[in-house]
Amino acid sequence: MRKIKRQMMGLSKILMIILSLAILSAWQLNDVQDGNWVAPSSANQLKNPLNGDEAATKAGAVLYKQMCAICHGDKGKGDGMAGMSLNPRPSNFTKSAIQEQTDGAIFWKLTTGRSPMAGYEKILKENQRWQLVNYIRTFKK
Ligand code: HEC
Repeated sequence: MRKIKRQMMGLSKILMIILSLAILSAWQLNDVQDGNWVAPSSANQLKNPLNGDEAATKAGAVLYKQMCAICHGDKGKGDGMAGMSLNPRPSNFTKSAIQEQTDGAIFWKLTTGRSPMAGYEKILKENQRWQLVNYIRTFKK
């Protein structure tokens, strides 16, 4: 009788461990965001007031080097030093998945942010955020 009891105890411990591992991995899977970060369709209606404005693109380049290159990389490839260990990794702006998005969608994303990237709504003025959209376009291959 004693022996059976001890075996049962051992078994329930193993079951507990298996259960907690299952819960943990489900939680971790849940924590990994789905790769598709889609801006709301209303963002596509936003018009870029600086479209084609070369001076604005140059200003965007300066801001980008100061604030974004550390994660997104000097050439926009998502290979900046600070981005190496992030999950998800910083987006590669040379990819068509980014360049096919509207200016409004890109503006909305850098305004809103998504972990681990901050939103820049309070950090940058609206026209600075559009300058960055202009500059991100220059990474198009
Ligand atoms: C701390 C690192 C970090 C910094 C600094 C950073 N980003 Fe990001 N950025 C990310 C990560 C990580 C993602 C991917 C987020 C995701 O997919 O959920 C991202 C995604 C984006 C996207 C969305 C692209 C897409 O996948 O559709 C845009 C636009 C963007 N960043 C612009 C900027 C701009 C502009 C700056 C500078 C003002 C900046 N980021 C600074 C880490 C960073």
